Amino acid sequence: MHAWLCENPIGADALTWKELPTPEPKAGEVRIAIRAASLNFPDLLIVQNKYQMKPPLPFVPGSEYAGVIEAVGAGVTDLKPGDSVAACGGTGGFATHVCVPASLAILLHKGFAFDDAAAFILTYGTTHHALLDRGALQAGETLLVLGAAGGVGTAAIQIGKVVGARVIAAASSDEKLELCRSIGADATINYASGNLREELRALTGGKGPDVVYDPVGGDLAESVFRSIAWRGRYLVIGFAQGGIPALPFNLPLLKGASVVGVFWGEFARREPKANAQVLAELARWYAEGKVKPVIDQRLPMPELMRAYERMGSRKVRGKLVMTND
Ligand SMILES: NC(=O)c1ccc[n+]([C@@H]2O[C@H](COP(=O)([O-])OP(=O)(O)OC[C@H]3O[C@@H](n4cnc5c(N)ncnc54)[C@H](OP(=O)(O)O)[C@@H]3O)[C@@H](O)[C@H]2O)c1
Repeated sequence: MHAWLCENPIGADALTWKELPTPEPKAGEVRIAIRAASLNFPDLLIVQNKYQMKPPLPFVPGSEYAGVIEAVGAGVTDLKPGDSVAACGGTGGFATHVCVPASLAILLHKGFAFDDAAAFILTYGTTHHALLDRGALQAGETLLVLGAAGGVGTAAIQIGKVVGARVIAAASSDEKLELCRSIGADATINYASGNLREELRALTGGKGPDVVYDPVGGDLAESVFRSIAWRGRYLVIGFAQGGIPALPFNLPLLKGASVVGVFWGEFARREPKANAQVLAELARWYAEGKVKPVIDQRLPMPELMRAYERMGSRKVRGKLVMTND
């Protein structure tokens, strides 16, 4: 097998594409021949030692992937060689093969493309949990999505529309906003060139968004919170901009609004049954054509550096997918 190995977590440039012995699955594991793996923001952080999870060295990055089961370890009865699966295992995806606990491998229904499946669990799982569970988004409410053309952002536009919300997409360029409109956003704001608060006021008749989905953080957060509607819910998804914002406590009081944390990985670990229901509903929505990952580019696995460069320089629109063809 081949894999991108992180021996020194000082950035993507230090990764090396190496030939390694193909692993045998241990008890309870399956070995997957990876067909596609997607790049998620945590994959950028983990190779810089900046992510909350710090795997022992050396490790193979790549949080999410899809492929075909080649071998199963002792005790695995519900999956078999030849099954198509997707998994969000945290690491191991930027390779040709990976062994993963069978409990993390989700059987794909016929017609679920590997490229889509590799770009699905983390972004859509996070966003379903965020909008429906943590944010209690209702039909007819207004949802503001920041970083709306990114991986989780595009998922938030699509799921917001499935719920029946009015979706305002905000991003840093007109090209990104064009993509947002093409996948269902009702209105858009360019926060690099426009005045976000004034445009929000105009678009919501002064009321503000009911739910804010924020994977960006940094200096946008406080000013957006100042625009939120009465009883609004501000969903803290991530900090792609780098800075972790702080908020004066009088603002939630004055708005009767909530700051709501979202941590899908921990939700999946602590509440596996609820997460399985979330993923089953998302798979149904995919089969019905209601949601579909937006693929920015497909690149051969050995060209992973190009994907890292594209994400690090804020160019990605949707998801980057690495393939083993
Ligand atoms: N809480 C959870 O459970 C959970 C789960 C998955 C992901 N996340 C987090 O969600 C965030 C987004 O993940 P993603 O995979 O969707 O990433 P992504 O595709 O790269 O999207 C991030 C967006 O953030 C914006 N951004 C602003 N400043 C940036 C900067 N300095 N560098 C890069 N992007 C910047 C960009 O949009 P503009 O250019 O339009 O500003 C970009 O499209 C990450 O922080 C990730 O860790 C959290």
